Amino acid sequence: MKVSPSIIAASFLDIKSIIRELENNGADYIHLDVMDGVFVDNLTFGPDIASEILSFSRLGGDTHLMIKNPEKYLEKFLDTGTEILTFHIESEGNKMSMIKRIKERGRKAGITLNPSTPLIEVEPYLAHVDLVLVMTVHPGFYGQKFKHEMINRLKELKKLREKGGFNFLIEVDGGINKETAPLVAPYVDIIVSGSFIFKKGSIKENITFLKRL
Ligand code: DX5
Ligand code: ZN
Repeated sequence: MKVSPSIIAASFLDIKSIIRELENNGADYIHLDVMDGVFVDNLTFGPDIASEILSFSRLGGDTHLMIKNPEKYLEKFLDTGTEILTFHIESEGNKMSMIKRIKERGRKAGITLNPSTPLIEVEPYLAHVDLVLVMTVHPGFYGQKFKHEMINRLKELKKLREKGGFNFLIEVDGGINKETAPLVAPYVDIIVSGSFIFKKGSIKENITFLKRL
């Protein structure tokens, strides 16, 4: 299993040592949650801070844009050096041209959807994207409760991938912990986790647990 720790659940004052700890303990990516206070009810950081974080780290950037107008900021986020750039189907802009642009710049194009959005909405993009992120909480905050009904969505998405012969990776984000990670593991390639990794016990043990799934 690949693991992408969501650093909004970490202490920003300790970010340098936390990044080194993630690198030394098997993390595969750094998950960067970008929120604009409009698309979701919270604010985090923009491309300048994402750039600083990614240039300090040797881990791949896994940027999750929760912003109203991702197209407007696409180049700026590509300039951060992120390996994966994921935007929401519910956001504004031309989705196909965003996917094309992300791929032209040699990055992985990801699409994601809120739990309340039907999976069928992303189907037209499945042949084109490199990654589908399944949200298992409503986006905006770390530490929320996993929505169990999203397990069916993961199963369905994996089936669609098999049937269509598609190559996208499946990533899951929201409420992943010791109890819920084993439930999603059969269907996903990458697990995002915030509060489970940073808020209890040791970062090393928590990452190791997820990696072994
Ligand atoms: C939610 C974010 C998630 C979140 C994950 O809006 O997209 O990445 O930080 O945190 P946990 O694992 O605590 O749900
Ligand atoms: Zn996220």
